Amino acid sequence: MSVKTIAVLTSGGDAPGMNAAVRAVARTALTSGMRVFGVRRGYNGLLNGDVIDMNLRSVSDIIHHGGTMLYTARSPEFNTPEGVKKAADMCRQMEIDGVVVIGGDGSFRGARDLTNAGINCIGIPGTIDNDIACSEYTIGYDTAMNTAMEMVDRLRDTTESHDRCSVVEVMGRRCGDLALNTGIAVGATTILVPEIPFDFEKDVIGRMLFTQKTGKKHFIIVVAEGVGGVSEISKRIQESTGIESRATILGHVQRGGSPTLRDRVVASEMGNRAVKLLQEGLGNRVVAMSDGKIVDYDITVALSMKRVFNKELYDVALQISI
Ligand code: F6P
Repeated sequence: MSVKTIAVLTSGGDAPGMNAAVRAVARTALTSGMRVFGVRRGYNGLLNGDVIDMNLRSVSDIIHHGGTMLYTARSPEFNTPEGVKKAADMCRQMEIDGVVVIGGDGSFRGARDLTNAGINCIGIPGTIDNDIACSEYTIGYDTAMNTAMEMVDRLRDTTESHDRCSVVEVMGRRCGDLALNTGIAVGATTILVPEIPFDFEKDVIGRMLFTQKTGKKHFIIVVAEGVGGVSEISKRIQESTGIESRATILGHVQRGGSPTLRDRVVASEMGNRAVKLLQEGLGNRVVAMSDGKIVDYDITVALSMKRVFNKELYDVALQISI
């Protein structure tokens, strides 16, 4: 079957670099002679036929912008068998042969279901959390790490001036990658992640008191969202050590901003590969990164993979941030 028309959508939480991926998808398809629809607000746009007929200029001047020009949403209606059928019917009505879905695991499950309903879909990992098992890298992760690092650097200034402790929460609901890398980059005394169980007295208080004895007067503790409780942690630190402590949740500021070079380049490569897969008549695949190379996997296989936390890097942090 020759692929004449494709669609592209962004779904779930936005991530810096999604625009670069949309641009790559649109330009690869258009320059290969295909028609391209940009679908607005994720799967909701497919259900309602809310699309933009794209040309080469539709994606001009977006590569450096955060967010997503296509908007994004989570769609409860699409997450039902009736919703999937309605979206597939809408694709057939608009003569869409394939869809590129940029998002996280939930978006990939939707892409799998839509492929099963007869519309070939390719997933591209886009989320700041880096929590997609099949890919060592997700679009938005690099920008978010750098944003978090910059924010904690600012906190460090005031923490140092006051001889305080700052307990900072960074995003990552199920995944400590953002916390681990930010924590190393800012020299956090302790990094708490959902993947590694911790003993509060030993791993938080014990490390603080040890470094205090060696002359340290201010402290940064980085906590992943999946561990949470930064206010409580901060209170307990102050009670146990007498060191004045403040809690900060960085929150959604980490999701915005101009994407880094790495996010723009990876997004461009992944977008290009996704269209080529559709062109080969393939569906139910996800583009990923493995050993620094762009690869692709069957979505069902990809969704069954287990994430491996970088314990070696965590151990490096334990040894040197002391
Ligand atoms: O993009 C992933 C993520 O940033 C998680 O770390 C966070 O829990 C979630 O999104 C919050 O998303 P929202 O506020 O859009 O529901």
